[in-house]
Amino acid sequence: MERAQKKKFYITTPIYYPSDKLHIGHTYCTVATDAMARYKRLQGYDVLFLTGTDEHGQKIEDKAKEAGVTPQEFVDNIVTGEKGVLDLWKLMNISNDRFIRTTDDYHVASIQKIFKAMYDKGDIYKGKYVGKYCKPCESFWTESQLVDGKCPDCGREVQDAEEEAYFFRLSKYADRIQDLLENTDFLQPRSRVHEMVNNFIKPGLEDLCVSRTSFSWGVPVDFDPGHVVYVWVDALFNYTTALGLFNDKYDDYDHYWPADYHFVGKEIVRFHSIIWPAMLMSMDMPLPKHVFGHGWLLLDGGKMSKSKGNVVDPYVLAEKFGVDALRFFLMRTFPFGSDGNFSNELLINTINVDLANDLGNLVSRTTAMVQKYFGGTLPAGCETYAAPEAYDTELVALAAGLRDRYEADMDACAPHKALDEVFKVIQRANKYIDESMPWALAKDMDANGPRLAHVLYNLLEATRICGILLTPFLPASCEKLFAQIGADESCQTWDSAAVWGSRPAGAAVTKGENLFPRIDMDKALAELEAIRAAAAAPAQPAIELEPWEEEVDFDTFAKSDFRVVKVKACEAVKKSKKLLKFTLDDGTGTDRQILSGIAQYYKPEDLVGKTLVAIVNLPPRKMMGQESQGMLLSAVHKENGEETLNLLILPDHIPAGAKLC
Ligand code: MSP
Repeated sequence: MERAQKKKFYITTPIYYPSDKLHIGHTYCTVATDAMARYKRLQGYDVLFLTGTDEHGQKIEDKAKEAGVTPQEFVDNIVTGEKGVLDLWKLMNISNDRFIRTTDDYHVASIQKIFKAMYDKGDIYKGKYVGKYCKPCESFWTESQLVDGKCPDCGREVQDAEEEAYFFRLSKYADRIQDLLENTDFLQPRSRVHEMVNNFIKPGLEDLCVSRTSFSWGVPVDFDPGHVVYVWVDALFNYTTALGLFNDKYDDYDHYWPADYHFVGKEIVRFHSIIWPAMLMSMDMPLPKHVFGHGWLLLDGGKMSKSKGNVVDPYVLAEKFGVDALRFFLMRTFPFGSDGNFSNELLINTINVDLANDLGNLVSRTTAMVQKYFGGTLPAGCETYAAPEAYDTELVALAAGLRDRYEADMDACAPHKALDEVFKVIQRANKYIDESMPWALAKDMDANGPRLAHVLYNLLEATRICGILLTPFLPASCEKLFAQIGADESCQTWDSAAVWGSRPAGAAVTKGENLFPRIDMDKALAELEAIRAAAAAPAQPAIELEPWEEEVDFDTFAKSDFRVVKVKACEAVKKSKKLLKFTLDDGTGTDRQILSGIAQYYKPEDLVGKTLVAIVNLPPRKMMGQESQGMLLSAVHKENGEETLNLLILPDHIPAGAKLC
């Protein structure tokens, strides 16, 4: 169907801060958006799915400085570098149609025009900002908004901020925003509405500071050098600049805007349901239809964050358990609007129960029986059977009505409920195998052949319908599933999911690989723990040792005279960068002078009084015009490519002149 004939559906994820590598919490939101986008495509919508990265702000500028690189280099590494944001979305099979980076030129130029348009309208004005700023959240707060003096979003310390700044007249839009929240279904789930109205609107919406002068990593305000646009203004408008608003990069703003859904985490609902619509009102632009604020994935009851050191790495889990299993787990386990406690046990258990036991078994038992009893192809006419059992009718009715129940749940942004409906059918189908007992029927193929074929056809149909509806969650596995049960593209469609009997009876079934192998819980947990411990251990320096010397006979070795010496005096040799001159007590009563090239490792004054080891029977030699009567012993190695040296320093009770042997 042509784009013009299809209904459009525009959905977005938040654009991510590339200040650290992404973790499973970020993956959660993107997988949810992806599942929704795939669902809408399945239904035949013309879908645009946008994600991207939000690359400006003080936090990024600070982190880049710490890392000794430019902010652009810093974000490039996290976005496009190995195992960066782009790699992660590719790995997770995310089907975004566009990816925006807020450092893209077209976006920067558009933001400048948008800022100017709100300024020209009188909704942005110049003033002075005095208040608090939370750097990690890039959020301004007034004193009264703080909780125990800390950031109300993340609970971390805030800092004083006072600077000349531009302000957006947020207060002007307070009534319209309250009306939008209370009297429409703009913000979902409903519980978030009360949170926003009671916590932010009722106490009085203050104008919002929308420019900064104390750092420079942001979109410059082109009519007032020194100011950069507040990162949230820059970030929120990504949803429209990525469609071509005020730029030539894209030209489908009129087609796709307003967005149908912004999926966002609960802590950024405030930005999306108050600040964002107010700025759109200022710009006289249509408002997005819905913002859905999902919950957080928690670890040990708290939010994951790099600074707490409790992030879960999606790369590790996807590699161990498979991308589809991870995607499925995220959507199946946690009600989408609520917080959920992540654990490896829960993940493995979900894979074993739902995927290996229920779905995997249904597919493997069904395809194995079609192979075994009918050589892979059921006879024509087996779609119908003259005298169905009650459990036949029950299975057919449950599976044929599944699509509509699933649709209602998906449209209500409750993917966990939609999956629950699918698994009720899968479980019903497994029970149907026990009830119909195909192995018993197979004992007398002459008498029971048609009945057996019908039973297996019913199982294939139930599996096909479930497969279609699981595709948004398990895209790669469902492709394999369709190949195994012999469902070609014509019977993988949304329409066919509501039509029992769409699969031609004679289509060939092939028993393929086990779609979801069972996981050994104890073994997998131990392996994950080992990976976690290795990642938590401080990085070992890369050590390079000197090459080993050739073997010497004992007599040769025994001729080397190693003695304990005490440092009486030590000073740098003039005009030499390397040499230190030691005056040593070697126990003979006569001072010994040794020159040693260790000035870059030790300060002379730190060595006076130390007990060292010297080889004392080397022939004396001259260095920089001074005589050296032996050599001090030290341990030498290279660490991370740099030469490192440690003098052999012995305990002080060992007397000068003691022989080492
Ligand atoms: N850059 C802003 C969004 C700008 S949108 C115009 C931002 N970025 S973020 O990288 O910090 O977070 C991106 C999304 O990941 C947010 O929706 C956030 O809620 C989500 N998550 C981060 N950690 C999470 C969990 N532990 N659990 C679930 N989602 C979490 O905010």
